[in-house]
Amino acid sequence: MPATSNVDYSTKIPNNVGLSDDQRVLKALELWHPGYIDWWMSRGPEGFQTSDVYLRTAVSIDPKGWAKFDYVRMPQYRWGILLAPAQEDRRVNFGTHKGEKAWQEVPGEYRAMLRRLIVVQGDTEPASVEQQRHLGKTAPSLYDMRNLFQVNVEEGRHLWAMVYLLHKYFGKDGREEAEELLARQSGDADKPRMLGAFNEATPDWLSFFMFTYFTDRDGKMQLESLAQSGFDPLSRTCRFMLTEEAHHMFVGETGVGRIIERTCEAIKQAGIDDPTEIAAVRKLGVIDLPTIQKKANLHFSLSLDLFGSEMSTNAANYYSSGLKGRFQETRIEDDHQLTVASYPVSKLVNGKIKLVDEPALTAINMRLRDDYVADCAKGVERWNKVIEKSGINFRLKLPHVAFHRHIGEFGNVKASPQGDVLSDVAWEKQKDQWLPSKADGDFIESLMEPCWERGRFAPWIAAPKVGIDNKPGDFEYVKINRA
Ligand SMILES: [Fe+2]
Ligand SMILES: [Fe+2]
Repeated sequence: MPATSNVDYSTKIPNNVGLSDDQRVLKALELWHPGYIDWWMSRGPEGFQTSDVYLRTAVSIDPKGWAKFDYVRMPQYRWGILLAPAQEDRRVNFGTHKGEKAWQEVPGEYRAMLRRLIVVQGDTEPASVEQQRHLGKTAPSLYDMRNLFQVNVEEGRHLWAMVYLLHKYFGKDGREEAEELLARQSGDADKPRMLGAFNEATPDWLSFFMFTYFTDRDGKMQLESLAQSGFDPLSRTCRFMLTEEAHHMFVGETGVGRIIERTCEAIKQAGIDDPTEIAAVRKLGVIDLPTIQKKANLHFSLSLDLFGSEMSTNAANYYSSGLKGRFQETRIEDDHQLTVASYPVSKLVNGKIKLVDEPALTAINMRLRDDYVADCAKGVERWNKVIEKSGINFRLKLPHVAFHRHIGEFGNVKASPQGDVLSDVAWEKQKDQWLPSKADGDFIESLMEPCWERGRFAPWIAAPKVGIDNKPGDFEYVKINRA
């Protein structure tokens, strides 16, 4: 059934995949639906399920005008299944099947690998909703609260996207995996989420913005490489998810940017010359720049772990099989098979970090991580522009990729943010200068007082330049109903 550009809202599950003509999958999804709603009510945003939130809902897959804005109670959000338009005569663009017609069904030999890729991606989506569920209560404005909930409902929709693929293409084991996606829980001792960063706490709004900046950006890179997939339904679903993901990173980048803006303004007003005078800056009720740097260090390093080991035969197999490509695969000029190519990989050689040429095929993760780091650096530069503009002498920097790692080449070494390898003793002595300490966390938490008046913002964050959907500054993005 071809996808249309308009979404069918006549079924319980809005979709553009012809669900009403696919009774088997429609039934399976309708059976899964109550469990999803249970999950949303018990592990989704806490305390706001009866509030009216000004949310966008996807009504079409046309890049222009796919979203409609209106007040919605989150449990009534129309989570839909949306695939980007089919590209005519699409091919497998890389790996050993390069040039073949893209697959509309799962190739039998790759079934297990493909299922694994979909499950790992799917597991991250509900995880972040769980991690962020307490944040509404301390929202620094109605604008920010609305953005949090928008991100949350869309992560919920991304779960639907992966669950659709499981139900549609993977039969009984697909249904079982879909159940498991609701059973695992972020941070749970017995049934944790699959990846490390998705089991960490998101205790405050600076963490939330850093998470959406750094960790959602990992999501973007993963979706970009899955959008290259030779399995066409996966490619199309990821292409549509990317349009939503862009907003998540916007929330992160502008959120951190607005915190920096407010901090700089307060420093200038108070006439503080040295922005590293932490105690003096904190007295102003804003988050000091060195602490913002520490939070960036933490979230960046946790997100790097999501790329897996630099050298990976799994990644090589995904690539050769045509299931998961590189970032912007079709724009790269090479043979797209990587049978002889090499790629520089950062490695620990005799206690020093060096670049070593390795087979490009097994270094696929490293390459994607490099693309990610370059993407992260751009936003950090925009943050630095904010600091520069205020005339304050301070620069934020991404730490070295060896810093605070738990996976891959640097998983067992201690390194400074500059990339110097350290003894355990030296690390212990200095780590509180580089990563948020308990005291830093306590300070940030002390600022997390809700600010829910229309048009007002907590004193540690600047107002945004423009409203969502061009709404005026005092727009009531969330009508809080405490009943
Ligand atoms: Fe997502
Ligand atoms: Fe996201």
